[in-house]
Amino acid sequence: MEKNKTCLILGATSGIAEAIAIEFAKNNFDLILTGRNSDELNKIEQDFKIRYNANCSAHHLEITDLESHRTFLENLQILPDVIVFAIGYLGEQKSSEAHYDEARKVIDINFTYPMNLLNHFANEFEKRKSGTIIGISSVAGDRGRKANYIYGSAKAALSAYLSGLRNRLSGSHVEVITIKPGFVRTKMTEHLETPGRFTTEPQEVAKDTWKGFAKKKDVIYSKKIYRYLLFVIKHIPEKIFKKLSI
Ligand SMILES: NC(=O)c1ccc[n+]([C@@H]2O[C@H](COP(=O)([O-])OP(=O)(O)OC[C@H]3O[C@@H](n4cnc5c(N)ncnc54)[C@H](OP(=O)(O)O)[C@@H]3O)[C@@H](O)[C@H]2O)c1
Repeated sequence: MEKNKTCLILGATSGIAEAIAIEFAKNNFDLILTGRNSDELNKIEQDFKIRYNANCSAHHLEITDLESHRTFLENLQILPDVIVFAIGYLGEQKSSEAHYDEARKVIDINFTYPMNLLNHFANEFEKRKSGTIIGISSVAGDRGRKANYIYGSAKAALSAYLSGLRNRLSGSHVEVITIKPGFVRTKMTEHLETPGRFTTEPQEVAKDTWKGFAKKKDVIYSKKIYRYLLFVIKHIPEKIFKKLSI
């Protein structure tokens, strides 16, 4: 019998990641879950075992602690077929403007520390000549806006990084997929008033991600309408854009 493929979910306590993990479990992937909150992570692990009959293990990972990266990588017994990177921190724009430490935290959690793990898996996948890296970035990285440009800068860096990886690894049979959600109803946005028709559910992002994975897409906007919306926003001349509140 053919062995199941394995999907590693970095940030499995994220609303979007949990929905993506369900898609992979339904498609017979074994799961490796990471999180920094052990109680919550263990609950999710048990849930996947019971509800989806998934072969599943859980590992502690605090993204801002390189020692935690080392322990996690040492304990990882196999090289997964797919990794989904979902860790993220929105922070608060006004606080990031006033406090360098907060701005730095936003950049570090969304980009600087993740790069260490993404580099590791990119190098291993390149050696093996197979694998898929799915990175959850954001439409916020497509153009800096006053509402969230610190978070947006971190996501812009992540998107550029994933684009570079895709370019580097395309000859090594390694796929790199960038997911760019707009507003999604998760604990990250529960304190925000989000625009109804442009706000989506984690399950919809998960379905788009699975479809994109199956079709080996490069960049996926979720909802799809964001692709067109961001195309327009990116092309507004700076002279006009600087005066807008969008
Ligand atoms: N929701 C949206 O509207 C939206 C839109 C575009 C992009 N995204 C991106 O989608 C991804 C998933 O976000 P989500 O919406 O599902 O939000 P979420 O439920 O708040 O998930 C965020 C994840 O990041 C983890 N995390 C934060 N700081 C961490 C740290 N220091 N060490 C380890 N893990 C840490 C959280 O762990 P804990 O559970 O322990 O806090 C959680 O697993 C993120 O990259 C986010 O930026 C979200």
